[in-house]
Amino acid sequence: MYRTFVLTLKNTNRFNMYRSHNCGELRVSDIGNKVTIAGWIQKGRDLGGLTFADVRDRYGVTQLVFNMDENAELCTQARKLGREFVIQATGIVRERSSKNANRATGDIEIEVTELNILNESKVPPFTIEDETDGGDDLRMKYRYLDIRRAPVQNNIIFRSKLAIETRKYLDSQGFIEVETPFLIKSTPEGARDFVVPSRLNQGQFYALPQSPQTFKQILMVAGIDKYFQIVKCFRDEDLRADRQPEFTQIDCEMSFVHIEDILNTFEGLARHLFLHTLGLELGDFPRMSYDDAMRIYGSDKPDLRFGMQFVEMNEFVKGKGFSIFDAAELVVGICAKGIAEKYSNKDMKDLTEWLQRPQIGAKGLVYIKYQEDGSIKSTVGKFYTDEELKLWAEKFGAEKGDVIFVLSGEAEKTRKQLNELRLELGKRLELIKPGDFKPLWVLDFPLLEWDEESNRFHAMHHPFTSPKKADIPRMLNGDHETMKSLKADAYDLVINGAEIGGGSIRIHDRALQSKNFDLLGFSKEEAEAQFGFLLGAFEYGAPPHGGLAFGFDRLCAVMNGQSSIRDFIAFPKNNQGRDMMIDAPSSIHDSQLKELCLDIKTQKM
Ligand code: AMO
Repeated sequence: MYRTFVLTLKNTNRFNMYRSHNCGELRVSDIGNKVTIAGWIQKGRDLGGLTFADVRDRYGVTQLVFNMDENAELCTQARKLGREFVIQATGIVRERSSKNANRATGDIEIEVTELNILNESKVPPFTIEDETDGGDDLRMKYRYLDIRRAPVQNNIIFRSKLAIETRKYLDSQGFIEVETPFLIKSTPEGARDFVVPSRLNQGQFYALPQSPQTFKQILMVAGIDKYFQIVKCFRDEDLRADRQPEFTQIDCEMSFVHIEDILNTFEGLARHLFLHTLGLELGDFPRMSYDDAMRIYGSDKPDLRFGMQFVEMNEFVKGKGFSIFDAAELVVGICAKGIAEKYSNKDMKDLTEWLQRPQIGAKGLVYIKYQEDGSIKSTVGKFYTDEELKLWAEKFGAEKGDVIFVLSGEAEKTRKQLNELRLELGKRLELIKPGDFKPLWVLDFPLLEWDEESNRFHAMHHPFTSPKKADIPRMLNGDHETMKSLKADAYDLVINGAEIGGGSIRIHDRALQSKNFDLLGFSKEEAEAQFGFLLGAFEYGAPPHGGLAFGFDRLCAVMNGQSSIRDFIAFPKNNQGRDMMIDAPSSIHDSQLKELCLDIKTQKM
């Protein structure tokens, strides 16, 4: 019984009365057969005696041919077919005289004997082909047309496969999928909440979850020791290519685990997903501390697909009379291989101007070219002898043909600027091989970060993250400065320079959690009001636990070599957070406002 069911699913079309085949499956072996297909008209060509039409569905495109001599009435009907008309066509599969090697069905065509126009279409506002002329907002407004395009459709199909493989792997590891509510109380993950007014509790609001963080921890207290959920999260933050206000996480939590158990389980998930969707065996998952990542790459999500590690230069450049370096907290550089001849003065000028844009804000760029002929060309030749500049080369492992780029200034800022320069050079010099994937675990994040503007500590990951065991005494007794040096049991999974996931071992002790809230500036009353349920649960036998969440949309994009997550989301928002198709957000009716007690006019009265 079961087997028959599976076969039925695989051969859906054989049992379909509407169409015998889809638009992507007919081959030379079908020649001579009578078939019926259905789909959308991609384009038509009228050559007088013969009229051609390409029909598309999600499986591919098949050419239809109508012959004036054989059936004039049908041919006349075919000439009226417009782009995106929905049709059903029956006919005989023939070998094509001029084959199209770029198309899976390119060896055949269907000579149509019956044509049924199922629905007409207005002329679409952009071309529905792989390369379209539609701008972003237009494509989003007519998303149903955009999704007919193969590149977008393939992304949506990829996403579906990735979700199915995620469930397969996590199920095989004993995880249980549990749904948690969307109408909740604020979860502090660092962004603003989207709020929903309550009609039944006037003047009160739900928040949409920024993540199911507190619920998954409660599930651990409840004894569900391996939880997962592919779940929508909502964050009211500034949007970028890799951020949407509603996005999806593969959210997981486990009890009775050390960091090692979590890293192994989710390295396993990443390996499974790459293997079962892209057919790729991922290489090593190296590990690096946050401090090293910042020191060597100036980023907590370094892209390891190319080298150019930072070399700190204070020790050998200061005290030689170059006041900019002498005054700098940090002088640091990177070495680009083999570009000394290729990179002209104009390229250098472009790069310097690029670095000086306000988005990056570098003051200037020092460079040293080690020319192929052994001479050295540099912007700081006045201050350093050739001997000294040769020493620089040694420190960087630079050879003839290489260029060293140097930035200086306040340490944190300079590292960030050099990170930008490194990534830009990676692009400009085409150092990244397409299809290359380089994962990395970044570990040992700081527990807290000091925010000058608000004059308070913020949790670097979130307030439920545990300090490292060895740091707990310092956390309980240390002064303000000590707090800045506390390390957390927190980790991020980075792939190709994108933060794919993050997580931590959690605090499971009420007193320590209270202390953390205290450090984060919550009064006892505020902590109780916001998180009393969690603190209360911790008093009923909370097991040690930890977890992580992968950004599902980001994983889709990175696995496909793309930086924008938009086209992996069926109905994304634009940069202003608007859904262009349904035109949301929008105002609501006065009566709704009144019902929700949000009517300002009523409130004033
Ligand atoms: P975090 O806030 O690091 O951790 O989020 C986990 C992952 O979600 C993705 N992500 C986003 N993707 C698209 N648009 C956004 N606006 C967006 N924000 C985050 C990223 C990120 O790595 N509760 C914790 C997880 C835990 O501790 O278990 C959390 O949400 O890929």
